[in-house]
Amino acid sequence: MKKILVMHGPNLNLLGTREPGIYGTLTLAEINRRLRALARKEGLVLRVLQSNSEGELIDFLHEQRRWADGVVINPAAYTHYSYALRDAIAAVGLPTVEVHLSDIREREPFRRVSVIKDVCVKQISGKGWESYADGIRTLMALA
Ligand code: DQA
Repeated sequence: MKKILVMHGPNLNLLGTREPGIYGTLTLAEINRRLRALARKEGLVLRVLQSNSEGELIDFLHEQRRWADGVVINPAAYTHYSYALRDAIAAVGLPTVEVHLSDIREREPFRRVSVIKDVCVKQISGKGWESYADGIRTLMALA
């Protein structure tokens, strides 16, 4: 497990100023910086994408499927209704961890539903940026 895709879904580009009471004050750039530092320490290589477009996230998974050994994805709102993203994760067959900054189990009823969860090896929720770090460690432990 050397090569990992880190994928951030819609509206996560606004982290830092987006509903800081829920998502915290770290920017996406800072989260990515911390994840790259973790990766360096562990001898991993990351490819990182943020997109507000479902199709772009799916295309990235398709394009990177032969390069990557695993995926950490925060599908953001697509978590709750994107069968297309779910199918893409199942189709590429890479071990994938679903992560969320906030605890989706403790929020509005629509957020408690994940259509992605069943095609992932694990769902990690509510630990802020550490959800991503735990996602990377989960993939490392699979190897
Ligand atoms: C989120 C939770 C989702 O419900 C929401 O739509 C997001 C972010 C999280 O990281 O807590 O955009 O995935």
